[in-house]
Amino acid sequence: MYPKGFLSPIQKIPAPLALAIGVVCGLLLGKLSSWNSSTTPAWRSAHTPATMRQHSKQPIQLPTPDQRYRVLDLLTTLTPHYTRECSSNVQPLYAQQIIDRYASLIGHKTPSQRSWLESLGIPSDDHVENSRRDIMPSEHKYFFAINLYNSFDIIPDLFATLFRVAAILGYQNVFVSIYENGSTDQTKALLRIYDALTRSTGMRITIRTSMRTRGAFNHRIEYLAEVRNAAFVPLHELRDTEGEYFDTIVFMNDILPCVDDILELIWQSRRNNAGITCAADYMYHEEIGAPVFYDNWVARDVNGTALENAPFEMIFHHPESSQRFQAHLPVQVQSCWNGIAILDPAPFYTPPHVKFRMAKIMDGECSASECSLICNDYWEAGYGRIMMVPRVKLAYDRKVYDIIHPPRRNYTAIRGYARLGGLPDNPRTDPQDRSWFGPHDRLFTEEESEPLNFVPGPSHVWCWGWDGAGDLEGPDVDPIWEEMSNKSRRQDSVLVRHDRNIVL
Ligand SMILES: *[C@@H]1O[C@H](CO)[C@@H](O)[C@H](O)[C@H]1NC(C)=O
Ligand SMILES: *[C@@H]1O[C@H](CO)[C@@H](O)[C@H](O)[C@H]1NC(C)=O
Ligand SMILES: *[C@@H]1O[C@H](CO)[C@@H](O)[C@H](O)[C@H]1NC(C)=O
Ligand SMILES: *[C@@H]1O[C@H](CO)[C@@H](O)[C@H](O)[C@H]1NC(C)=O
Ligand SMILES: *[C@@H]1O[C@H](CO)[C@@H](O)[C@H](O)[C@H]1NC(C)=O
Repeated sequence: MYPKGFLSPIQKIPAPLALAIGVVCGLLLGKLSSWNSSTTPAWRSAHTPATMRQHSKQPIQLPTPDQRYRVLDLLTTLTPHYTRECSSNVQPLYAQQIIDRYASLIGHKTPSQRSWLESLGIPSDDHVENSRRDIMPSEHKYFFAINLYNSFDIIPDLFATLFRVAAILGYQNVFVSIYENGSTDQTKALLRIYDALTRSTGMRITIRTSMRTRGAFNHRIEYLAEVRNAAFVPLHELRDTEGEYFDTIVFMNDILPCVDDILELIWQSRRNNAGITCAADYMYHEEIGAPVFYDNWVARDVNGTALENAPFEMIFHHPESSQRFQAHLPVQVQSCWNGIAILDPAPFYTPPHVKFRMAKIMDGECSASECSLICNDYWEAGYGRIMMVPRVKLAYDRKVYDIIHPPRRNYTAIRGYARLGGLPDNPRTDPQDRSWFGPHDRLFTEEESEPLNFVPGPSHVWCWGWDGAGDLEGPDVDPIWEEMSNKSRRQDSVLVRHDRNIVL
């Protein structure tokens, strides 16, 4: 059966227009005016003009943690609709686990247990106070590349998450590059507000908006590749003008991520020295009446077979991968993208210099997605360590978000708990955590921290070409098994070339 998920357009809530902007501005001004000058003495950096180049050498006094916290507070009361509850009300054992797990990612200079917990959205209380340890701040640098298009509904959540993630990684270690093209809603106006707010926290951001449309390009993939490359322009500019190199790229679509989703992807990417690390994204399937795995145009298992828009047990054809997926464990794949991808920047910086591109049709290359092609190019460049993290489940809209992030219910209090396989008072045996869509705070198992054992790539990959000439919103060529290069089939393609591992 051919998957249908990605043929159906993403369900967007109708674009709220100028009225909503007015409300947001009103709230913003109302909140700002209650900040009297005596409490905010050095609030200067907000006046940096939006067009000013970020790498000005002029010393700008950075806001104090307290000031930043107020911006965060403002943003989070003003904005997140969907992701607000991600990590509040988590089960205590999970809170403890993520504090231990992500401590190695902390990049701010004066770590204060309280403030980084609050960044995670976990209200800090006494029992975690003891777990405080002396943490050396990490100087690992992160480049966030984001493509937006008619994203009014998700921008507030996206930024609230970005602020919190940056508070953990260290604002000075984060650069955000947003490229927006041709939105017909008020995305551009909303972005201007967030541009100013982001700068006021001392986080570096470049937002480029464009009215360019597909017009000038013959091939749809060529256009999509250009849009993605546009978000990477500052990566190259910062290297050329400042000599600044990044250690990790976080590429995001218009999705609704929780803070711990992004941290887990970064953690897995670094733990495994992975070339590309992706999440699992879900889209509502009308016929099945449930969300299904979405991005099967790009995702290929380690045998080269396409994943399916299907329920849990039927997504992977490769038996071992299917087993791991159903146990929510990281899986090696040939290719994936799925809403967020964490990339090792090395192949961007050094020859053969990968970038997003369309297929070389003249050379007989199958006309795959720009995201499949970049995975192939990573294999080719010797960075074939590509993996999916099924724990991180992403949605593009509220309907799916609510289904895949159900609140945890207290099964101890209901009858039949033991029959479902749970042991009273043992959070590790909760039956909710074995299901396809379970509560967000599922406890980590030890296997989730073990490094993957990467194997060389498949000889053939299922490719479903998109000629792109017609009006079809999806592949329009008969699929084939495309032969992969010899290079990607050698052990050499999965060796660690750029060590980004975290200190455990
Ligand atoms: C500043 O505002 C707070 C409440 O918002 C108030 O308690 C305080 O007295 C004000 N300070 C000055 C100097 O106006
Ligand atoms: C903008 O780019 C997105 C991909 O990020 C694409 O789906 C959309 O069609 C583009 N918008 C226009 C108006 O071309
Ligand atoms: C669940 O319910 C049981 C019985 O009512 C109670 O003892 C327990 O504390 C509850 N657990 C949580 C996490 O609320
Ligand atoms: C593995 O890949 C081969 C093509 O290389 C294909 O014929 C076979 O069906 C695949 N096996 C599975 C389980 O997908
Ligand atoms: C590499 O692949 C080509 C065809 O794709 C084949 O002719 C050649 O023998 C292969 N070389 C090695 C060393 O396997």
